[in-house]
Amino acid sequence: MSDPDRFDLVVIGAGPGGYVCAIRAAQMGLKVACIDRRDAPGGTCLHIGCIPSKALLTATHRFEEAELAAEMGVLARSVKYDLNKMMAYKEAAVAANTQGVNFLFKKNGIESIVGEASIAAPDKVAVATPDGTHTLAAGHIVIATGSEPTPLSGVEIDEKQIVSSTGALAFDRVPKHLLVIGAGVVGLELGSVWRRLGAEVTVVEYLDRIVPAADAEIATGFRRALEKQGIAFKLATKVLGAETRARSVSLTLAPVADEAATETLTASHVLVAVGRRAHTEGLGLEALGIACDAHGFIETDENRRTNIDTIFAIGDVASTKYPMLAHKAEDEGVAVAEYLAGGAGHVDYNVIPSVVYTAPEVAWVGKTEEELAGTEYRVGTFPFSANGRAKVAQSAVGFVKILADAATDEVLGAHILGPQAGELIAELAVAMSFKASSEDIARICHAHPTLSEAVREAALAVDKRALHI
Ligand code: NAI
Repeated sequence: MSDPDRFDLVVIGAGPGGYVCAIRAAQMGLKVACIDRRDAPGGTCLHIGCIPSKALLTATHRFEEAELAAEMGVLARSVKYDLNKMMAYKEAAVAANTQGVNFLFKKNGIESIVGEASIAAPDKVAVATPDGTHTLAAGHIVIATGSEPTPLSGVEIDEKQIVSSTGALAFDRVPKHLLVIGAGVVGLELGSVWRRLGAEVTVVEYLDRIVPAADAEIATGFRRALEKQGIAFKLATKVLGAETRARSVSLTLAPVADEAATETLTASHVLVAVGRRAHTEGLGLEALGIACDAHGFIETDENRRTNIDTIFAIGDVASTKYPMLAHKAEDEGVAVAEYLAGGAGHVDYNVIPSVVYTAPEVAWVGKTEEELAGTEYRVGTFPFSANGRAKVAQSAVGFVKILADAATDEVLGAHILGPQAGELIAELAVAMSFKASSEDIARICHAHPTLSEAVREAALAVDKRALHI
C-alpha cells in the first residue's frame, strides 16, 4: 500500500457498484482504494452471478438451437454436450472479465486491496490481509458489499443437494429432477439452463404468478412459454420443510390457501431462489450506528449518504426500494463518485431496465400496468408472430407492449417477452429518458427485417394504427 495510507475515497466491495464507483472517482481526480475479500474483483456479478449464468445460458441455448436448426436445413445430428467443458468455458469467461477489471484498476491508478474490510471510524477503514491489518484514512467511504441469497427456514442449503444460485452454477452432473423454490429471475434462468440439458424442472412459487416485478400479462405469457418447454409450475404454494436423503430431497408443500393440504415432492436437487439479503456482516455498522431498515439494508438519503456524513452506500446492500441489479449499482456508483467530486450525482430510477435472460427473454422498463392503476393510459401491443425476422429465426414467441400516458402520449412503461428482449429494451429506455411519446417512436424509421420493427409496431398500436396486424 502506498504511504501514507490516506485516500480521498475508500470503496468497500469490488462488484459492479464498487469497482465502477472507484473508476469514476479516479477519473475525476480522486485518490481511490477499492477493497474486496475475493482475490479478484467483480463481486457476485462476475464470479457467481450475471457472467457465469450468462455463459451457461448462452451455451445451453446454442445446444438447444442446434437441434432445432434441422428444420432450417442445418443437419447437426445427435448434438451432444460436454458439461465439464461447458463449466470450463464458464470459468474462463469469469477469469477474462475479472482480469479486465484488474486492468481498469491499474489504468486508473486505483489501489486494489484484497482483504476483509471493516469501518473503524467515520474516516478509517481497517483491512485484514494475509500480512496483517492495515488502517486506511479515508475522506469518504462507500459501502458496496452487495447481497447474498436469502435462506429459507427448514430448507438448509448445503450447496450440493440443496443449492443457492452459487451451487446451481456448478453442478458436476445434470440433476435428474431440479426443484426450484422461487419463480423469480434466478430460479427461471437457472431452471432453464438445467432443463435444456435434460433435467426435469419443477418451480414452486409462493405467489399465484411468476416474476412478481414484471407486468402481469407478460408474466402469464412467459409462464406459458416456459411450460411449453417442459418446466412445471406449482404456484400459490408454500414450502413447509425439506428432508434430505443420500440421493434425494423431499419437500413438504402446501397450498398457501390451505396449509393442511400438504403434499410431498421428491427430487434429486433443490435450488433455493427466494431473493437476496444485504451483505453487511463484519463491517462494524452497529458500532458506528449506521442506520439500517427492518430487513438489514443500509438506509441512505437521495445522494446515497448514510446517517454518517462521510459514509455512503450503493447497490444491493443499500435499498429494497429498487431492484437489485448490477447496472443499477453501477449507476449509483457513478452518481456517488460524481457527487463527491462536486457534481450532481443523478440516477433516473424511473428508467432502469430489467432483463430475464431466458428464451424467450423478458425485459421491461418503467411502469407495469399494475403500477399504473389509477392513471389514464393507452396500451399498444404487437406480437412477434407478426414480425418477419422473428418468424425466420424460429423465435416468434411473445409480444411488445408499450404503455403511454392517455393525455400526453409520453411512454410510461415498456414490456417485452420475446427474442432479444434484453437488447430491444434499450431503445425504449432511451426513449423514456428523453420523455418520448409513443408517436415519437412510431415515427422513427426502423430497419427491415429486424426484431425492432415489433417495437415500432407496438408504438403504432398505442394509436390503433399498427401496420402488420
Ligand atoms: P426474486 O426476488 O427475483 O424472486 C424470488 C421469488 O421467490 C419471488 O417470486 C418470490 O415470490 C418467491 N418466494 C419468496 N419466498 C418464497 C417461499 N418461501 N416459497 C416460494 N417462493 C418464494 O429473487 P431471486 O430470483 O432470488 O434473485 C435475487 C435478485 O437477484 C433479484 O433482485 C434479481 O433481480 C437479481 N438477479 C437479476 C438477474 C438479472 O438481472 N437477469 C439474474 C439473477 C438475479
